This record gives sequence, structure tokens and C-alpha cells, in this order.
Amino acid sequence: MEGMLKPNSFNGKTILITGGGTGLGKSMGKYLLELGANLVITSRKKEVLDKTAAELEQQTGGKVLAVACDVRKYEEIENVLKETETRFGKIDGVLNNAAGNFISPTERLSHRAFDIVVDIILKGTYYTTLAAGKNWISKKQPGVFLNIVTTYAWTGSGYVVPSACGKAGVLALTRSLAVEWAKYNIRSNAIAPGPFPTEGAWSRLLPGELVKKFDPALRIPLKRVGDHQELANLAAYLLSDYSAYVNGEVITIDGGEWLKSGGEFSHLEMVPNEMWDMLEKMRGK
Ligand code: HXC
Ligand code: NAP
Repeated sequence: MEGMLKPNSFNGKTILITGGGTGLGKSMGKYLLELGANLVITSRKKEVLDKTAAELEQQTGGKVLAVACDVRKYEEIENVLKETETRFGKIDGVLNNAAGNFISPTERLSHRAFDIVVDIILKGTYYTTLAAGKNWISKKQPGVFLNIVTTYAWTGSGYVVPSACGKAGVLALTRSLAVEWAKYNIRSNAIAPGPFPTEGAWSRLLPGELVKKFDPALRIPLKRVGDHQELANLAAYLLSDYSAYVNGEVITIDGGEWLKSGGEFSHLEMVPNEMWDMLEKMRGK
């Protein structure tokens, strides 16, 4: 799987990725570094961030600033912006990627469990967005937001209800600010990934035997999960000036998964050819 954008597409640009020390954030960050970006990664665990920063710098030769920041704490986000400006001068793009999630019947959740997931996803995204947006607007600087949601942001989904509520809010934020802040030359877009294997998601959403019982690849029309580079290509495009006229969009990258689950007759893929032959005969053809 190869990178898609021209080399050096991000030369001179600085991109901040929340939750950038692990999983998809780390993969997207790596590709941005390969394209010449300066990278800022944040999350709660400084030791994880430092390890990732050293690894990515060694692999790509790029520059990575790692700053611990809980996205639910506004002053910590302001500190990230300050440290970024000290190190790189400015921020050009923000990738709101940090999230929390677990599976549970909703009636088993405490109100604190609900809070914790919604706060990381929705409050974390609007705090980061507000802090970066105010910074860009006061400096009359253009900027781009890219928010990671999920397809159940618009379908909803049982057993991950706090996450679905949070992601739906992030989608509303994306579309609202795409219009309101366009006058400041600030774009907002979102990506809705289907299943892309990561330790963080798989350990929480497919724990223990569930991973064998519910192999996500089997539900997907393309019969496979996503490759991190496929997501990184899309993210880099949406953060780059190549997408300068794309604003307020959510792009799904899921191999056709969510549409299949809504299609009335999608299950007919289980009908073998011999049965179709038989049905055709019964129709008298
Ligand atoms: C029910 C749970 C729970 C679980 C925690 N809680 N885990 N309730 N089922 N599995 C409850 C606790 O009982 C507690 O409530 C409250 O949540 C807070 O728990 P803590 O452990 O104190 O929280 P914390 O240590 O901050 O952990 C946050 C977390 C954790 C969200 C619970 O999973 C985390 O840190 N996640 C970050 C990374 C992550 O989730 N990545 C996956 C993203 S994948 P009480 O009332 O007891 O105090 C993703 C993919 C979506 O989003 C789409 C896939 C296709
Ligand atoms: P992941 O590795 O667990 O990433 C989540 C990141 O968020 C972690 O680095 C975590 O770091 C950080 N985080 C959690 N709470 C935080 C907080 N309060 N403040 C700051 N950072 C926080 O999982 P992933 O699969 O890569 O998920 C990345 C994004 O993709 C998420 O938005 C997720 O919803 C989305 N997504 C994933 C999939 C998939 O199949 N993997 C599908 C659809 C959407 P700390 O714990 O160190 O804080």
C-alpha cells in the first residue's frame, strides 16, 4: 500500500493530532511526516507519546513535538498551542482523533461511564476546535480541521451509545463550522472509517472470544478490513491544499459496510448460484 500525495506536499506545514501516540493517529502522523510536515502529537500518556515521537522521527527524519494533554481540559489544549508556536511558529491543521469507547448494554452503564466517553469525544473535539479556531482567527491565519467520526454518527448503534452520541455531535460541529468559519478561510471536514485494526479499538470493542465470533471483515462487501495507509492517504488529502474546495464533507472509508447493513436485500449475497438457477427455473425462464 503506497502513499498517494506528491512528496513534500506538507513542507513548512505543522499538523496537530490528538490521540496521536497510538493506532490510527500514529499511522496518519507518520504519513504526514513522510510528506514533510512538522507533527505535534498529544494524549494523556506522556511516555507513550515520547516513544512514538522517537520512533517516528527515526523512521521518517521529520520533527515531532510530543505534549501531554487531556482534551477535556481547555487550559492543557491552550498549552499545546503555546508549545507548538514556540517550537514550529504556527499550526496549519488539526486532526481531532482522540476518542474513548467500550461496548456495553446501555442499561449497565453508570452515568459516569456515559460522561467519560462523550466528554473525550465531543467536549475534547469542541475544546480543541475552539482553542485552535480562536488562535487562527485572531492571527488572520487560514486553517483546516479534520475530525474522525464513525458511520454510526448518523445511523446510531446499540452497545456503543455514548460513542454514537459523541460522534454525532462531532459531525454536527464539523458541518456547522464549515459554514460559519469559511469566511476566515478555515475548513472543516470529517472521515468516517469502518473497521481498521488497532490495539485500542480491537481490545475494547472485540475483546476475548468476540474477535473470533464477529470477524468484522465478513460483514464488509469488500471482505476485508481497512489498511492504515488507505486512511492516511485520505486524511493527508483532506488536510492538504489539494482539497481546498472540500468543506463540510464527511467521507466514509469502510469498504461499503454501513450501506450494506441498511440495504433491505443485502443479505441475499448468502444465496448461492445454484439457488438463483433454481429460482430462475421456477420463474419459467
Ligand atoms: C462499562 C465502563 C467500562 C466498560 C470503564 N467503564 N470501562 N463501563 N463497560 N468496559 C466505566 C467505569 O466503571 C467508570 O464508571 C467510568 O467508565 C470511567 O472509567 P475509568 O476506567 O476510570 O476511565 P478511564 O481510565 O479514563 O478510561 C476511559 C475509557 C478507556 C474510555 C474507559 O477505555 C480509555 O482510556 N479509552 C481510550 C482509548 C479508546 O477507547 N480507544 C478506542 C477508540 S475505538 P464508574 O461509575 O464505575 O466510576 C473507536 C472505534 C469506533 O472509537 C468504531 C469502530 C468501527
Ligand atoms: P486508539 O489507538 O485507542 O486511539 C485513541 C487515542 O485517544 C489514544 O491515543 C488515547 O491516548 C487518546 N485519548 C483518549 N482519551 C484521551 C483524552 N482524554 N485526552 C487526550 N487523548 C485521549 O484507537 P484508534 O482505533 O486508533 O482510534 C482513533 C480514532 O479513530 C478514534 O476517533 C476512533 O473513534 C476512530 N475510529 C477508529 C476505528 C477503528 O476501526 N480503529 C473505526 C472508526 C473510527 P491516551 O490513552 O494516552 O490518552
